[in-house]
Amino acid sequence: MSFRNSKVVIVGAGNVGSTTAFSIVSQGLCEDVCLIDINKEVAEGQALDMQDAVYFMNRNMRVHAGGYEECSDADIVVITAAAPMPKDSNDRLEMLRPSLHVVREVVQSVMASGFNGIFVVVSNPVDIMTYYTWRVSGLPAERVIGSGTNLDTARLCRALSQMYDLAPASVEAFVLGEHGDSEIVSWNSATIGGKRVDDVLRDNAPRTRGTTREDLRKRTVQAGWDVFSRKGNTCYGIGASVTAIAKSILLDEKSIMPVSVRVDGMYGLNGTYLSVPAILDHTGVKEIVEIDLQEDELAALHKSADLLSSFYGKLDA
Ligand code: 2OP
Repeated sequence: MSFRNSKVVIVGAGNVGSTTAFSIVSQGLCEDVCLIDINKEVAEGQALDMQDAVYFMNRNMRVHAGGYEECSDADIVVITAAAPMPKDSNDRLEMLRPSLHVVREVVQSVMASGFNGIFVVVSNPVDIMTYYTWRVSGLPAERVIGSGTNLDTARLCRALSQMYDLAPASVEAFVLGEHGDSEIVSWNSATIGGKRVDDVLRDNAPRTRGTTREDLRKRTVQAGWDVFSRKGNTCYGIGASVTAIAKSILLDEKSIMPVSVRVDGMYGLNGTYLSVPAILDHTGVKEIVEIDLQEDELAALHKSADLLSSFYGKLDA
């Protein structure tokens, strides 16, 4: 894949899909961005609106709406299409049943185009939808990636950075497992400026104000709902997260990110899709990184995996 003629197709031109498209356009990440939506008018309207923005961007790009035939030469297809999240929901797993047929039809339509690129799945519950996309598409697992806990990791880093008045990117930590209530934090590998987060919490009592590891994990899990409850969706965080994933793939960056991948053997897991650190390059998942987890963290990761894989046998019912 050369940067010159790279193409990203985004299926779903709602809040998440259109924000992701605009984020990719703003960074000038590829030559061609195509939006597909069941409501063609909306896809066309979003694309026309973004065409006006290209004038102000750092490079020319083609932004348009289209049909599934546009996937045949796409490097990446981002799937954001899903049933709407119930207003009073606070569990992404509730979206599974109503969204399964949507994702199945999308994946089948994309594959019918002759698509031979990389899927980045965003539709929630993302870990199960990524597994389902892998199963329905028949593509090798390294080319089916879910946005996973990449955004949760950013939320944890934000929480810590606000406590100590730092740039979020100066916090290095991983949220792993389900993108949801059972996600875990790898405290073993969490550092700020090279200092273990546990020691930072201890040595800065006035700013830590008694905040514990579990407070931080719960704050991270709740962060998406804090947004959703106020504006009825989330889009900027997830859009930027997906753009970072696409950037590592399109530019062959080999960045390490916590994304939903098929973990078979590592971490003692056998074939579950959930988030662990992975190296992303032009092939998709170049390699999975097996970091050193504390005993309780590994047990919690297995609990997350057991929850997710408990749905695998009920997806085509
Ligand atoms: C979020 O947490 C959309 O699940 C995504 O914002």
